[in-house]
Amino acid sequence: MENNLKTFFKPKSIAVVGASKNSTKIGHAALKNILISDYECNLYPINLKEDEILGLKCYKKLGDVPDKIDLVLVSVPAIKVPQIIKECKQKNVENVIIISSGFSEIGNNELENEIKKIVKKSKMRILGPNTMGYKNASDSLDASFVFGVPRKGNLALISQSGALGIGMIYLANNEFVGVSKIIGVGNKLDIDDDDLIDYFSTDPETKVIGLYIEGVKDGRAFMNSIKVCDKPVLVVKAGRSSAGARATESHTGSMAGSDKIYSAAIKQAGGIRCRDLVELFDMARALAGQPPAMGNRIGIITNGGGLGILLTDACEENGLKIPKLSPKTYKKIDRILPEIIKPNNPVDIVGDAGFYRYEACTKALLEDPKIDGIIVASVHGGYARPREFTGAILKMIRQRKLHEEYKKPILGTWVGGKEFEDLVYDLKSAGVPIYPSSWRTARSMFGLYLEGERIKRNG
Ligand code: COA
Repeated sequence: MENNLKTFFKPKSIAVVGASKNSTKIGHAALKNILISDYECNLYPINLKEDEILGLKCYKKLGDVPDKIDLVLVSVPAIKVPQIIKECKQKNVENVIIISSGFSEIGNNELENEIKKIVKKSKMRILGPNTMGYKNASDSLDASFVFGVPRKGNLALISQSGALGIGMIYLANNEFVGVSKIIGVGNKLDIDDDDLIDYFSTDPETKVIGLYIEGVKDGRAFMNSIKVCDKPVLVVKAGRSSAGARATESHTGSMAGSDKIYSAAIKQAGGIRCRDLVELFDMARALAGQPPAMGNRIGIITNGGGLGILLTDACEENGLKIPKLSPKTYKKIDRILPEIIKPNNPVDIVGDAGFYRYEACTKALLEDPKIDGIIVASVHGGYARPREFTGAILKMIRQRKLHEEYKKPILGTWVGGKEFEDLVYDLKSAGVPIYPSSWRTARSMFGLYLEGERIKRNG
């Protein structure tokens, strides 16, 4: 039977080889993270000389453990790892995470080849070496040695860089993006990005997949996994410049490859390439919380004309259209707006707009079949009533089942700094992504549009 990574992410028993009483050691942190996880499993520290670590009975070697072991974390110096892998094989361990560094990332390819030879023809799957491990937020299992508790949610994150993976946990938390799993793939001796995309494509806890990659080992398999995946796949590919490509080689030993080819291939496979991590989280937030845009026609509502223009430019630059209002919508909005202004798209509802104007104009655009997505923009003009704007959107979400009824995404651009903070928090908590910049909003709407196109293509 093939190993489909089920026991990798949901093991019933875990051993940590290289567990230590010394709290400064990685093997101690890894053991502790699993121990304090709100996750039920049998846990076995393995250490040559200890009888007990963190209150758990300790074994000298894997072979001494009287139980079947689903997952082994290895935290001993690289040179000792092949021997541990042999012991894993003897014990029929199906999944191993090699935390240890000192392999191909520093040119020590022989050691990795030795491990590959040992596991050949077995169904053992290996993550790493040179990895932080993973955090399975959906099941509250922390099989990593690093700090950080991700907010639970629907984004599966795959990172080739451990440190960046850790940074991503905090960034995700700040950006109100919930995570299902976050995993560091390290040197990708075995478990590769494509294996994980395949796994996450059927993971019920995952709605969106995000990757930070420096290079891929099997381009065809990678692109194919994106192509067959029925969920949005967001890719940050580092090493765009020639200096960046040089840096990836010394970081994880990856060859960055031609950047243009990567871009074209990711696009052709149906993935979305993001410029950086903030963009990945911006898009992930939109894709996880909003329906896709089934076309590129966007309606903008704003209480500040300038912000409306900035949004129009940013949308048009990203291939979105800000069409003129249809006669029917024009009439509806004309009845709502004060006489001093005529309806347009962007719909400028003027600085003194309150609850009614916000709500009625948003509804008019939602009802227009020629509008595929809506951006609500609010600028703190010193006179604005953003609390009423927030209330209008929240009311529509909570009472009118906004997404089920109209099936259109709503994103927000709010420019008001600290004064807007608690309102933005309320909206984000309700799943409405709010961005502080017109560009970020337009890019996220573009992500929703690409997702709509992908869905249409796949029928
Ligand atoms: N079986 C059981 N226990 C063993 C063992 C074996 N074969 N070999 C060593 N041990 C024990 C050691 O005695 C030690 O326990 P102790 O503290 O009680 O003495 C423990 O395992 C760890 O071994 P040690 O030799 O002390 O290694 P270390 O903890 O200093 O370093 C690594 C090990 C893996 C952390 C280190 O080599 C490394 O690679 N660090 C970088 C990891 C990293 O950054 N990864 C990528 C993240 S993105």
